Amino acid sequence: MEERLHKALARLGIASRRHAEDLIRQGRVTVNGRIVTAMGIKVDTEKDMILIDGRPLPLPAPLIYALLNKPKGFVTTLRDPQKRPIVTDLLKDISVRVCPVGRLDYDTEGLLLLTNDGDLSFKLQHPRFKASKTYEAEVKGRPAKQAIDYLRNGVIIEGRKTQPALAKCLRKGEKSSLLEITIREGRKRQIKKMCAAVGHPVLNLRRTAFADLKLGHLAPGQYRLLHPEEVGKLKNYITLQTQGRQDAKNG
Ligand code: URA
Repeated sequence: MEERLHKALARLGIASRRHAEDLIRQGRVTVNGRIVTAMGIKVDTEKDMILIDGRPLPLPAPLIYALLNKPKGFVTTLRDPQKRPIVTDLLKDISVRVCPVGRLDYDTEGLLLLTNDGDLSFKLQHPRFKASKTYEAEVKGRPAKQAIDYLRNGVIIEGRKTQPALAKCLRKGEKSSLLEITIREGRKRQIKKMCAAVGHPVLNLRRTAFADLKLGHLAPGQYRLLHPEEVGKLKNYITLQTQGRQDAKNG
């Protein structure tokens, strides 16, 4: 696949696009033995011999997919101005840089996928692909059937109705109840806002499934790497979501 030299260097994680442009301008990059200083040149990183300061490009990092049970008390951003603990601190044995796919609140626990596969991460987060997210929400009080119906059909949060969701009550108590809610949107603090909107604020929140991945028996703070078959299924999931949309359009 041909692409612009500076973009190829950025994609391979050699440098940011701007830094790659500087390297090219400074005459430090050769393609098939020739110094290249023009910006527009296209290369195929599998066929062309590209050297920087006379050295070949490092091999691309292997793709890593880690499924973490995020504990409460960790942020899912990679830098926190308040210096709170960061989820990647928990991935002790992973030396490549991975990023969380989406976010969970500081006080939410549960399934968080982390990867360096930028393409899959983008698709799983893009509203177009509608990846499903299932949560167990311990809420205050004892929701009536009508409240559950509202959660299913859509409630207004910040002036906009939420899309249809799956919602059911797993346990009912006087003081608190346990709801299971599946959504396909990714609005900020969506579950807390939906439950608050029907009069049952969230006390505890845990994500139990994401796309076709399940949290399983991982303890909070533990993670495991996905098996290649699971990665294949995840990619199929995205393809099926796209096809579903196509079929709905054509049908
Ligand atoms: N909805 C929320 O309110 N919080 C989360 O962390 C995830 C979904």
